[in-house]
Amino acid sequence: MAWSSLFVTLTLLSCIPGHNALDLLKAATASNNLPAIPAVQCWCAGYPNQTLCSWPETSQSPPTQYIATYSERHTQSATKQCHLIPPGSSSSALSSGSSNSSGQLWHCHLGDLKLLTDYIINITAVNPVGSSSHLTSFMLEDIVKPDPPIDVRVSPRSSRKLMVVWSPPPTWSNLDIFPLKYQIQYQWENRGTPQSMHLGPFERTRIELGLTPGRTYLVQVCALELLGLGECSNWSSPVKITMPKS
Ligand SMILES: *[C@@H]1O[C@H](CO)[C@@H](O)[C@H](O)[C@H]1NC(C)=O
Ligand SMILES: *[C@@H]1O[C@H](CO)[C@@H](O)[C@H](O)[C@H]1NC(C)=O
Ligand SMILES: *[C@@H]1O[C@H](CO)[C@@H](O)[C@H](O)[C@H]1NC(C)=O
Ligand SMILES: *[C@@H]1O[C@H](CO)[C@@H](O)[C@H](O)[C@H]1NC(C)=O
Repeated sequence: MAWSSLFVTLTLLSCIPGHNALDLLKAATASNNLPAIPAVQCWCAGYPNQTLCSWPETSQSPPTQYIATYSERHTQSATKQCHLIPPGSSSSALSSGSSNSSGQLWHCHLGDLKLLTDYIINITAVNPVGSSSHLTSFMLEDIVKPDPPIDVRVSPRSSRKLMVVWSPPPTWSNLDIFPLKYQIQYQWENRGTPQSMHLGPFERTRIELGLTPGRTYLVQVCALELLGLGECSNWSSPVKITMPKS
């Protein structure tokens, strides 16, 4: 085995505050044939069991395998496996929602995380030449990103009033303990110029919009966790509606 010839250097990066995971350390490697360091992103679509990390497949030749582990940062607790989900597999851990059949993305699923706890995740790419690791630290609170609401339905109540109704994302399993808030966005064109309007956040799952008769709108909804941490980045697919003429 060539493990003894592994040549790995650790580069310490400074902590960059941000609402996504912090990159703490990167293990950089000195040869081109070593696998590229995986570019890892982690997010929590539902507390406590819906936390995923993903990264693009770095190379297929030479074949690369991945080892994904995580641990609590400040206690010397046991290292746990982050359950690997290869590209293209349809796992129940991957929420359906608006997800593109995410071509070459690897995922891994982290079980049962605690709040207010610093975690370190280590995604290591391994090929016959050597290995490269991406180490990221995060707290659950900082990476909460609910999936978009589902079943968005629109029904005109008159030529000027549109009722919009939706259901919470099914991946957000603890609505009673951690309620969600929602934002609405609707877009239309006025003489060729795109216009848009945002409403919310609010907690109810329906709203009546005042619109213009005969005009066509695209309506989308997104979910925020109650404190409104993070921004509304993941909108439901647009629903198109043309208001009746009066
Ligand atoms: C989260 O996962 C753990 C272990 O898999 C399970 O015991 C627990 O009931 C799950 N919690 C929820 C809210 O689904
Ligand atoms: C939006 O949510 C879907 C699941 O519904 C998820 O697969 C996707 O990664 C999310 N996109 C962003 C940009 O967060
Ligand atoms: C999802 O698919 C749409 C259209 O197929 C594409 O425009 C968009 O860039 C994709 N998003 C991601 C995150 O791959
Ligand atoms: C990351 O994981 C790899 C593979 O398990 C291991 O060899 C390496 O020592 C780990 N790095 C750190 C800093 O824990």
